[in-house]
Amino acid sequence: MADKSNLLMFGATGAIGNYIIKAIINSKDAFGRIAVFTSANTVASKVKEIDALKQAGVEIITGDIASQDDVKAAYSGFDTVISALGRGAIASQIPLIQLAAESSNIKRFVPSEYGTDIEYGPASQHEKPHQQKLKVRAALKEVQGQLEHAYVVTGPYGDYPFYIGPAAEPKVGSFDATKKHAVLLGDGNGRISLTSRPDVGKFVVHTLTHWDVARNRAMKVNSFTTTPRGILEEFEKQTNSKWTVDYTPLEELRRIEKKAWENGAPIATVCTLRRIWTEGSTLYDRRDNEDIGAVQTESLEDLVRGSIQGQLAASQ
Ligand SMILES: NC(=O)c1ccc[n+]([C@@H]2O[C@H](COP(=O)([O-])OP(=O)(O)OC[C@H]3O[C@@H](n4cnc5c(N)ncnc54)[C@H](OP(=O)(O)O)[C@@H]3O)[C@@H](O)[C@H]2O)c1
Repeated sequence: MADKSNLLMFGATGAIGNYIIKAIINSKDAFGRIAVFTSANTVASKVKEIDALKQAGVEIITGDIASQDDVKAAYSGFDTVISALGRGAIASQIPLIQLAAESSNIKRFVPSEYGTDIEYGPASQHEKPHQQKLKVRAALKEVQGQLEHAYVVTGPYGDYPFYIGPAAEPKVGSFDATKKHAVLLGDGNGRISLTSRPDVGKFVVHTLTHWDVARNRAMKVNSFTTTPRGILEEFEKQTNSKWTVDYTPLEELRRIEKKAWENGAPIATVCTLRRIWTEGSTLYDRRDNEDIGAVQTESLEDLVRGSIQGQLAASQ
């Protein structure tokens, strides 16, 4: 037990944190103590989720992430911090990193990434949605001598209601199984790598259990690589029907993106990310799944099946 990592997680009841903590619980024999740090508000409002964590043997530590005293007290007895804080709380990881580096026991920090590679190429540094995460990486680089890190870079989530699903604004890409209608981005033939949320959880666990190879690296992992047309063909196969199709060429997507930012539209971030993905920035010479022994992943067939089921259930 002494050599097993004691894990403290932030954001465990969030949209992706929930999958990460489940994957950790499913591999709990590989770890020592497992705890989540959360707010009193979340404990009061997410009673079912918190109870389920307790039932699974997870310790619940209540506090305010903005309070140094609360965070310092929570760090006691743990060596690894995993964050799945949401987009609105990315910058609040910087003091968490500084406190972790100052503590004598926290050795590893996995920040909230789980998405697009924010250092894919020279243009990445200018992308608006990347700015806060880039600051977090800079903060980790600064303390690299005291605190190790790993970035779990999964690319876009593929599973319903994410990429392989209908969109509130279909022009930014949509697969609508109730209308049997798709809007494909680009010319529909551009390759894109996707990850299911359960696989995100699995990749985090494998990163932690293969720390010797993941240490201080961006692990570029995904469930599979496909094309918008490939997704459409799988929907047509599984629904046994021909779908109607529209396209949003890259130039049009860029125009929609520009207008969304100018208007302060909430969809602006999604537009930018989808433009980045359509430009090919989820593709690598090699992916790192094998390095961390995460070979078994969900397939395009699985995610299309799940999307059809999810969309039918939502329409009833
Ligand atoms: N690849 C993709 O397609 C994709 C899609 C969505 C998100 N992501 C990434 O996944 C990560 C997590 O995002 P998410 O959507 O899962 O996040 P989320 O559900 O919005 O929030 C996650 C958790 O963060 C905490 N939190 C949120 N706002 C906070 C605030 N203002 N102050 C303090 N705590 C706050 C809460 O923790 P408690 O549980 O303690 O209440 C919340 O449950 C982000 O890095 C995001 O960019 C990627």
